[in-house]
Amino acid sequence: MPDISVAETARLAGTVVHGAGRGRHLGFPTANIAPDPGAAVPPPAIYSGWLARRAGGAVHRATISIGTNPTFCDTPQVHTEVYCHGTPEEVGDLYGERVDLWFVARIRDTEKFATAGDLLTAAREDVRRSEAHLDSAHGRHVRAAALA
Ligand SMILES: Cc1cc2nc3c(=O)[nH]c(=O)nc-3n(C[C@H](O)[C@H](O)[C@H](O)COP(=O)(O)O)c2cc1C
Repeated sequence: MPDISVAETARLAGTVVHGAGRGRHLGFPTANIAPDPGAAVPPPAIYSGWLARRAGGAVHRATISIGTNPTFCDTPQVHTEVYCHGTPEEVGDLYGERVDLWFVARIRDTEKFATAGDLLTAAREDVRRSEAHLDSAHGRHVRAAALA
């Protein structure tokens, strides 16, 4: 399925909370987001977007997973997880912060992978595709909205 641009109004506000900590062990740390009560969460999928921090106003390049993490979990709980593209030093500790996710494009459906290694390979490719979306005219337009 080709990548699909997401309406620039697709924005999700929430707070960074602790996840299962699996991503850190995999060398692919993610920030887990608890969406604000009543917030409209986009349908399960992998997306490119921007993570805007309410405190300080920094905006980070991001690849976002919304789904049940079927590779690891067998429960219906939907997780919102964000991989920020910068180094840990650039991004720092997000825990407890209020953030807004600004969605740019839908990259693919969530999959149940046979191994964690297969998931990592796919996630690295997601980040590569996400970078291209963020650098596109639409991606830069959404970033300007996130900074406003
Ligand atoms: C770019 C990206 C793509 C992902 N794709 C999938 C996927 O297709 N299937 C899946 O089960 N989990 C997927 N995940 C979610 C991972 O399972 C999750 O980040 C990992 O289990 C770590 O979770 P934790 O931080 O709560 O421990 C993806 C996460 C990211 C950041």
